[in-house]
Amino acid sequence: MINKEQLNSNIPEHVAIIMDGNGRWAKKKGFFRAVGHENGTKAVRETVESCAEIGVKYLTLYAFSTENWNRPKLEVDTLMKLLVNSLKNEIKTLQKNNIKLNAIGNLKLLPTKARTELLEVIEKTKSNDHMTLTLALSYGSREELIKTIEEISIKVKNGVISPHLINESVINEHLYTKNLPDVDLLIRTSGEQRISNFLLWQIAYAELYFTEVLWPDFKEADLLEAIFNYQKRERRFGKTSEQLS
Ligand code: IPE
Ligand code: IPE
Ligand code: MG
Repeated sequence: MINKEQLNSNIPEHVAIIMDGNGRWAKKKGFFRAVGHENGTKAVRETVESCAEIGVKYLTLYAFSTENWNRPKLEVDTLMKLLVNSLKNEIKTLQKNNIKLNAIGNLKLLPTKARTELLEVIEKTKSNDHMTLTLALSYGSREELIKTIEEISIKVKNGVISPHLINESVINEHLYTKNLPDVDLLIRTSGEQRISNFLLWQIAYAELYFTEVLWPDFKEADLLEAIFNYQKRERRFGKTSEQLS
């Protein structure tokens, strides 16, 4: 088991997590899927506090995808209720740890109660500056890219931007993630090795880390393990190893 002292100072600035496996966790124990989601929120709290403690500046959590709207209505309702409850309960944790809450995704689609609660916590924590916690809610990378292309196209049509000046920064400025740096480390739990429409543009040079641990079982030790593993890698960004040293 890795402890904090074994990490060096190269802490990833932006960690993103695909929190997967709540349903399988519940099934294994003979519970309803909802119990898995409930226990998943405990792993969220522990991960948020650990990241803040070790000095991660940006933590982005995939909580609900555009595709997750296609789940049975009862499960979607449960997830939305859990979101409201977690926001109500966790505001204390956010304030105590000086964490700013942020959200990405098509928030218009959220039930009014969830959206109102979310915007309230975002407002209350807006001056916190130790870490930014971003919840991806009703988020899909393709939807984000379509929105981005549409917005830029309108600006081109109206003569605000000329097409040959479109570059990476222009794209970045129109994404939901406009205030976030690129992802350094992407973690997915539950053994699945896929991206599931998460931050496709933003993970261009992220290090990917997959673990078999189901999300409700994900503990601080698992996070430290992922970061320890990240610290052993050489990020070359297309260059040769010799160029880096
Ligand atoms: C992740 O767990 C939570 C959400 C996608 C909202 P799942 O609910 O996908 O759990 P599995 O993949 O069915 O085990
Ligand atoms: C990805 O998990 C979305 C979230 C973790 C919120 P899913 O469980 O929805 O992904 P797939 O369907 O296995 O790809
Ligand atoms: Mg899943």
